[in-house]
Amino acid sequence: MPKLSKAENAALRRLLAGVADHPEVQKMRGYTQHGRVSTYAHCRRVARLSFWLARRLHLKVDEKSLVRGAFLHDFYLYDWHDCRDITRLHGFTHPAAALENAKRWFPLNGTEQDIIRSHMWPLTLTHIPHRRESVLVCVADKLCSLQETAFAR
Ligand SMILES: [Fe+2]
Ligand SMILES: [Fe+2]
Repeated sequence: MPKLSKAENAALRRLLAGVADHPEVQKMRGYTQHGRVSTYAHCRRVARLSFWLARRLHLKVDEKSLVRGAFLHDFYLYDWHDCRDITRLHGFTHPAAALENAKRWFPLNGTEQDIIRSHMWPLTLTHIPHRRESVLVCVADKLCSLQETAFAR
């Protein structure tokens, strides 16, 4: 995982206040994403990597929307390993499930919604990332998922 400075860690914590500590979001700790990584830990890693990439590449982004969208991108609260049918379709359907759930608990702006909706692209062909922030999360999610799966065994 990339290193954030002390100031960057504090900034990230501030940007995620009210989301990372929200009781519904905390429920993601109870679900497995990849290997031994909970969905909560996965979302936190994706948010950190997206933030790190934006800072190191000096990209002009809305940092608050970037990290909020990243933290909520897999906020669907079910175990996708449980059911064969869900497993088969999960890749296609979970962005919509996560978005619906996120909208129940948080007022989301257009960038945050686009991040969640398009994070599985190109698997979800028609949901192309429309914002710079969405492209970052799409890339960060794939990098984190690869690493979590590779070190799972
Ligand atoms: Fe996902
Ligand atoms: Fe993810």
